[in-house]
Amino acid sequence: MTTPAPYDLCFVGFGHVAQRFVALVDEQRRRLAREHGVRFRFVGAVTRHRQVEEPRGVSARELVRRMASQRGEPSTAATTRAVVDFVRRTVRASASARAGRLIVVETTTLDVTAGEPATTYILAALRGGAHVVTANKGPVACAYARIARAARTAGRRFLFEAAVMDGIPVFNLVRSSLPAVRIIGFRGVVNSTTNFILTAMERGEPFDAALRAMQRDGIAEADPSLDVDGWDAAAKTAALANVLMGATLTPARVDRRGIGPSTAAEIEAARKAGRRMKLVASARVGPGGVDARVAPTAVVSSDLLASLQGQQNAVILDTDLLGEIAVVQLGAGLTQTAYGLLSDSLTISRDAGRSPRSGRPGRSL
Ligand SMILES: NC(=O)c1ccc[n+]([C@@H]2O[C@H](COP(=O)([O-])OP(=O)(O)OC[C@H]3O[C@@H](n4cnc5c(N)ncnc54)[C@H](OP(=O)(O)O)[C@@H]3O)[C@@H](O)[C@H]2O)c1
Repeated sequence: MTTPAPYDLCFVGFGHVAQRFVALVDEQRRRLAREHGVRFRFVGAVTRHRQVEEPRGVSARELVRRMASQRGEPSTAATTRAVVDFVRRTVRASASARAGRLIVVETTTLDVTAGEPATTYILAALRGGAHVVTANKGPVACAYARIARAARTAGRRFLFEAAVMDGIPVFNLVRSSLPAVRIIGFRGVVNSTTNFILTAMERGEPFDAALRAMQRDGIAEADPSLDVDGWDAAAKTAALANVLMGATLTPARVDRRGIGPSTAAEIEAARKAGRRMKLVASARVGPGGVDARVAPTAVVSSDLLASLQGQQNAVILDTDLLGEIAVVQLGAGLTQTAYGLLSDSLTISRDAGRSPRSGRPGRSL
């Protein structure tokens, strides 16, 4: 039996998520070859101030070692240009890209205002002929239509399961299992940090102490105001609405209210009324397009969202043919996020040869 040609993986951003993904691919190597006939090869990585270029492939351990051995310098205005140059050069020189076997794995820092510079990196990769998978919700929330169009034009895939609910399948569920079903709305709890804080505050713990616990565990975003002010949830809401409902939202266009120490009074009032406070994200198709909001909401105890404890998340999709469908995330962590990137990479290898479906209007995934 001949060994299949590998899929090459090139990383843009090489922090917690990317490194867990590298380890996961390495750990699962034999199983992926045996059960899926797929081999992955690491050919490069670039960040603000570190890079490895190895077109013939390098081991997981060596990639991590070489990236870790480079010292970071402060970011400059030239950083984005240097990273784009690296991406263009790598893709242009890659025979794998020409054969549709190069995947750029984008995991740079979240920017909720414009999804940049991640969007620029992603477009450069797609236009050069690479597929792209990302865990970064910024580009999907801010520039999905543009990226999907570029992917379609290039005949390459742009996939992002890890961007919402840490890789628990939501986009995959709709893409693979709900053909001809229209999503007319959704509501959910999509931010782990705020659900943890609200659950802790219900037990009487102070807001600040609960937030510090989430920062200590590395769950809160680097800038925690992105979580508590509702920006992360707004970005996920825009991403879900853009992809599942054909909206053209940005996080700034999601009606948004976060939580803070003063939410304690709302929690107490909700408790007295037999309800629980949740930071609920929702969207619905209305007469003027898709309306979306994120707001602390007192939900009745029989509501599925009321049962979510600590870092648990859920999305309830409202569909035209199947009524409501819930996806519940009981366990969260880096492995789940890395798995989202792996499942997208396997989708690309599995669908090779079929016509790409990225960017269909209405439901464009
Ligand atoms: N952590 C999670 O549990 C989780 C879960 C779901 C989704 N995500 C998303 O996944 C992405 C990565 O998260 P992470 O936890 O891996 O973050 P991280 O550990 O902070 O790593 C971010 C990486 O991006 C690089 N980077 C930042 N700005 C850049 C720029 N302008 N150009 C090029 N590279 C840049 C950093 O480079 P340097 O090393 O040079 O600083 C670093 O390697 C984020 O978008 C996050 O929202 C994370």
